[in-house]
Amino acid sequence: MTDGWGGWWTEAKLEILRKYLQAFTQASTKARATVYLDLYAGMPTHTRPDTAGVHDGSTTIALETVPGFTRLVFWEREPTASALRSALRIRRPADDRWHVVSGDSNATISNGLTLVTDLRWAPTFAFIDPKGLDVAWTTLERLAAWRTGGRKVELWILLPEPAVERVLGLQGVRGRNTADQMTALYGCDDWLAIHERRRSNELTADETRAEYVNLLRWRLQHDLDYKITHPLTLTNATGSPVYTMIFATDHPVGGDIMHDIYSHAHVHEIPELRSLALAHRAQAKQDAAGILTLFDTPPPPVAHIEYVHTKPWEPPHRRRDDSILDEMDDVDDQSGYAGFNPDDF
Ligand SMILES: C[S@@+](CC[C@H](N)C(=O)[O-])C[C@H]1O[C@@H](n2cnc3c(N)ncnc32)[C@H](O)[C@@H]1O
Repeated sequence: MTDGWGGWWTEAKLEILRKYLQAFTQASTKARATVYLDLYAGMPTHTRPDTAGVHDGSTTIALETVPGFTRLVFWEREPTASALRSALRIRRPADDRWHVVSGDSNATISNGLTLVTDLRWAPTFAFIDPKGLDVAWTTLERLAAWRTGGRKVELWILLPEPAVERVLGLQGVRGRNTADQMTALYGCDDWLAIHERRRSNELTADETRAEYVNLLRWRLQHDLDYKITHPLTLTNATGSPVYTMIFATDHPVGGDIMHDIYSHAHVHEIPELRSLALAHRAQAKQDAAGILTLFDTPPPPVAHIEYVHTKPWEPPHRRRDDSILDEMDDVDDQSGYAGFNPDDF
């Protein structure tokens, strides 16, 4: 069973999660109850492939948050769901706050939410951390409408937008499956307007990525009525984007807290962890080449970029009525596509 760990950027992501959850439960003390939802829960710990370091996964981070969450629901597919349940029973025998819901979280979201029906009024945070384009808009709609009392579930969603054009470019059934997943994710086919402009070279690769992120933020704010969204793009060691974490809230305090955490991460966690990863890579290359050095390779300096929040802009509109996907050959290709894997980048 692979444990889904990416690299140093996963560590940065989970450090942001740790900080935000602590601030979230702290800021919600007066509410007297809080709920954590994890739609792609994984296992309690992960082993980082490059350093072999063992790190807490999101379930452990959420269970160890202080002040503690009142209740936590974890969604996972089998067989990982059963493995997670067993591991948590062993690790936390006296902790009865959590539940593991087996199966595709898009299909079982409502079942899982019934476990917190009595806490529908409570401040609730949902971590949505898939490995690909698995999330369905219907799930986001369900979460956005879940809470009573005029507030929304806060969402923190992973969007693997750098991989989208690569897999959309696939011929045949696989390309079409990706297109269907994109429509399910955005809840509409507005993403085709971006794809169309990329195909005609009106948008660069970077602009295309930015448009895919923007479209999801726009939909969250204009269709699900979230007041604030914050995007944070994580890169691999060489600086290529791997995914963007989109935070959505309707609470100004939540927006301010995540703004501060993202700003801090831009200056500290992201350049510092990336620098260590680069040093580790350089050391591993030297070791592999049999080069003996007296001292470890020092971490190279990595410049930081300040986090600047901008509002989402109106997404582009479709120009043509006919689907450009009709141009795809209907013959399935044999390109070895094995699903999304942002870790490839
Ligand atoms: C990137 S890992 C999650 C890691 C975890 N959030 C963490 O930070 O420790 C993605 C997980 O989602 C699970 N998964 C994939 N598709 C799923 C689905 N449709 N519903 C529920 N879980 C799913 C996989 O088994 C995998 O463990």
